[in-house]
Amino acid sequence: MCGIVGYIGNKEAFPIIIKGLKRLEYRGYDSAGIALLNGGMTVFKKAGKVADLEGIIAPGSTTANIGIGHTRWATHGEPNDVNAHPHLSQSGELAIIHNGIIENYAPLKEMLQKRGYVFHSDTDTEVLVNLIEEVQKTEKTSLDNAVRIALNEVVGAYAIVVLNRNNPDQLIAARKGSPLVIGIGEDEFFVASDASPIIEYTKNVVYLDEQEYAVINRDGQYNIRTLGNIEKSPEIKELEFSLETIEKGGFEHFMLKEIYEQPKAIEDSLRGRMNARQGWIKLGGINEYIKRIDNAERFIITACGTSWHSGLIGEYLIEDLARVPVEVEYASEFRYRNPIINENDVVIAISQSGETADTLAAIEIAKERQALIYGLCNVIGSSIARASNAGSYTHAGPEIGVASTKAFSTQVSLITLIALQLAQVKGTLPTSRLRTILYELENIPKKIEETLLLDAQIKEIAAIYKDASNFLYLGRGYNFPVALEGALKLKEISYIHAEGYPAAEMKHGPIALIDENMPVVFLATNQSAYEKIVSNVQEVKARKGKIIAVVHKGDTQIRALADHIIEVPETEEILSPLITIVPLQLLAYHIAIMRGCNVDQPRNLAKSVTVE
Ligand code: AGP
Repeated sequence: MCGIVGYIGNKEAFPIIIKGLKRLEYRGYDSAGIALLNGGMTVFKKAGKVADLEGIIAPGSTTANIGIGHTRWATHGEPNDVNAHPHLSQSGELAIIHNGIIENYAPLKEMLQKRGYVFHSDTDTEVLVNLIEEVQKTEKTSLDNAVRIALNEVVGAYAIVVLNRNNPDQLIAARKGSPLVIGIGEDEFFVASDASPIIEYTKNVVYLDEQEYAVINRDGQYNIRTLGNIEKSPEIKELEFSLETIEKGGFEHFMLKEIYEQPKAIEDSLRGRMNARQGWIKLGGINEYIKRIDNAERFIITACGTSWHSGLIGEYLIEDLARVPVEVEYASEFRYRNPIINENDVVIAISQSGETADTLAAIEIAKERQALIYGLCNVIGSSIARASNAGSYTHAGPEIGVASTKAFSTQVSLITLIALQLAQVKGTLPTSRLRTILYELENIPKKIEETLLLDAQIKEIAAIYKDASNFLYLGRGYNFPVALEGALKLKEISYIHAEGYPAAEMKHGPIALIDENMPVVFLATNQSAYEKIVSNVQEVKARKGKIIAVVHKGDTQIRALADHIIEVPETEEILSPLITIVPLQLLAYHIAIMRGCNVDQPRNLAKSVTVE
């Protein structure tokens, strides 16, 4: 939830760190700060965005070739200057930046206070840097060993970088539960929460693994050890995406860029994993665990937010096609309700960031109870990807907008492949039917391109309803999870209250909400329950609700009833979520823009929720 950047090398550190923090602002933007070593330690920090931090820094005061920077999403202590990172140790010799949460910071703080430490902030991070200093003093040991010993005392999640005023030739980085990437440049090193601050300088990176720390030296030497003090040989990976994929690419916002990237993202997610003509599907990890997957008595899909919605579509698909029981669980509930899990279960964890704390914790519990874990993540080398026995990356590319769009659609395309491969293995789907669906899946990107052409019409609808106080989203079957996702999109970027509901469920209460001020978005592309959804539209119309209906091209019945019709290309019913979500993403985007909201960085939200 915070962004951290470190640099050591022969260039000016300040511009590299500041630019890197701006690329990481989607992870949190409550406050920002930087520490530089230039003979002494120079620290600047400020509540607000990175630009606000830049505003307080006098030109000429930033000469240094080693430094650390941080952009924060508050977990302990409100977003103000004092709580902004970096935090210094009591002596002023150590500076730390931290992404994560120290759960046992209170007893540690008490212990340190008893030893004379005085704290200036409300943060857990300040406790950590003083714990490191205390260990270094009492154990009379090197800083990197003090970091290691201190982290063994810590309960919680962290990605940290530590700077030592007395040693301008070294950075120390460590992680547990929060991501950390080391960029290996020409006589220079970069450390960051993800690769976006690094990629314009080098594509060679090392992903720190769980409970590992790195000692990075200016002379080009670096080593990685576990918190158990075991040396690890670093595995250098080459980054797949280029810088422009991170930039907005000419779109006004990352979110709009990512909505329009969905055709390509889905193509990328399917590439090399299916062949309609030959009728095969090949997903990473499925084949090596095929026995356990084929014999699974149940699938449990666990996720949060949008990823939970794609998981719900997964339930419908797997049960419909492969005839295996599926349960979809909110990870934050699953991890605490003492669920019944055993070695006959397969748990599918869905997470764009691969760092969502609740989802990570949920799979750890499932692992302890012998279930097989299959991870569906977008971020390469992320914690959930590493914690899984097997899995597939969605290959959506970096999703910078906080509101998930292309990650959702690539999750749905992959979970569709999982359901189809399972059905193939179990023989529950005739080959001819499988091929028909695969051919249609190959057509989906083109059909999304076609749907995107409706953008202007959707913008007009947005202008009519941008001041509504509430929205209802209704759908049946495969479109019910889409109704939930459409409502979430609107809520999280326009701050309008919206609710997704099964269309037939309206009669059990929510229909009392309907009046002329209630816009109701119907997902009405169903073939199997079409007449039912027509009745639901009539029920709303009879109560003067304003009806925005997403229908298949050429629909006539609902056209006669709705106030606004959005005609999307027809597709296989089981693939309809990949199409029907697009107008809802655009509707939410345009309404939010018209309401002056910050669609890429909505208030109170962060891209990756790495705390509970
Ligand atoms: C979706 O638009 C939100 N950003 C949020 O619900 C998100 O899907 C959720 O926090 C899960 O994140 P993950 O996919 O990275 O685990």
